[in-house]
Amino acid sequence: MHVTIEGVPRELKTVWLEDGMVKLIDQRYLPFDVRVYEAKTYEDVAVAIEDMVVRGAPAIGATAAYGMAQAGEQGLDLKIVADRFRKTRPTGQDLFYAIDTMMAAAAGGQDLLAAAERYARDDIERCRKIGEHGAKLIRNGTRILTHCNAGALAAVDYGTAMAPMRVAKEQGRRFFVYVDETRPRLQGARLTAWELLEAGIEHAIITDGAAGLFLGRGEIDLVLVGADRIAANGDTANKIGTYGKAVVAKENGVPFYVAAPTSTIDTTLASGAKIPIEERSPQEVLHLDGHPIAPKESPARNPAFDVTPAKYITGIITERGILKPSQLRTIHETPPSAKKKPRTKKR
Ligand code: MRU
Repeated sequence: MHVTIEGVPRELKTVWLEDGMVKLIDQRYLPFDVRVYEAKTYEDVAVAIEDMVVRGAPAIGATAAYGMAQAGEQGLDLKIVADRFRKTRPTGQDLFYAIDTMMAAAAGGQDLLAAAERYARDDIERCRKIGEHGAKLIRNGTRILTHCNAGALAAVDYGTAMAPMRVAKEQGRRFFVYVDETRPRLQGARLTAWELLEAGIEHAIITDGAAGLFLGRGEIDLVLVGADRIAANGDTANKIGTYGKAVVAKENGVPFYVAAPTSTIDTTLASGAKIPIEERSPQEVLHLDGHPIAPKESPARNPAFDVTPAKYITGIITERGILKPSQLRTIHETPPSAKKKPRTKKR
């Protein structure tokens, strides 16, 4: 993605490894300041994930992959590092997918730096393909609603829900994006709007409560969101507030699409009921940009994600094409032992 640091334009990814450090665009300062966070140790990497220096399921996965490669170079016990990373954030599936991928690479005696680079390259490739498949849903004049941030910053580059928008833009289509501000961390207002601006895509930020009005008035043609974890039946965990948009979209006959790489799909969970939902600090709700906004004595609840049942999801845009939620199981390889033997004809 294009960013300007201290007046100098640069082409950066969300996360990369340089001089033995895991480097990240520090998303806590955007859109006002572009800073780079430097993780020298695996604990620095874990803190970056917990404190949302980096956020978005695929980006977190790649960060963990680089963190494990760094730890491998430092001669550390990868099992300890993996256990620490597994405790950082519970909902996004890519974190666990990345840790398992790197542990398998280590067990297979692979070069971990090369494995992490390959993981990051594959992530970009998956996002690019999501963009190509999803761009077919966007025509001239399409009015899109999106929630939270699923742009380049939420992956290594390119993004998930924003990838179809980028490709449609590259293909010369004109369309408009309504961006939910996404309380409490404001990923929509702070990150998605910044990315859309950089990409030259027309948009407007709306409050989280306003989407129903626009959907009800017929002013939105397509809802496009990312995902943090998708269960085998298509139930999808995404940023808190997504479920409500999906229900109102269905009520108004507006298609609701989820864009995610297959690394976000967790086929070990039959449904969304078992997806762990992260509960973050109440302080995120009680403050806005560091300023208190509620009585000091009031408690708050802060679940970071909700689960949208598959029945509200029109399709899931993956790197392998646009799938119905019911088709998800078919995209994973059938283990050889489970494959049916071809029948021999009886004479
Ligand atoms: O808490 P975050 O910022 O890590 O959550 C990210 C989201 O929920 C986004 O909506 C995103 O679409 C999922 S990751 C591409």
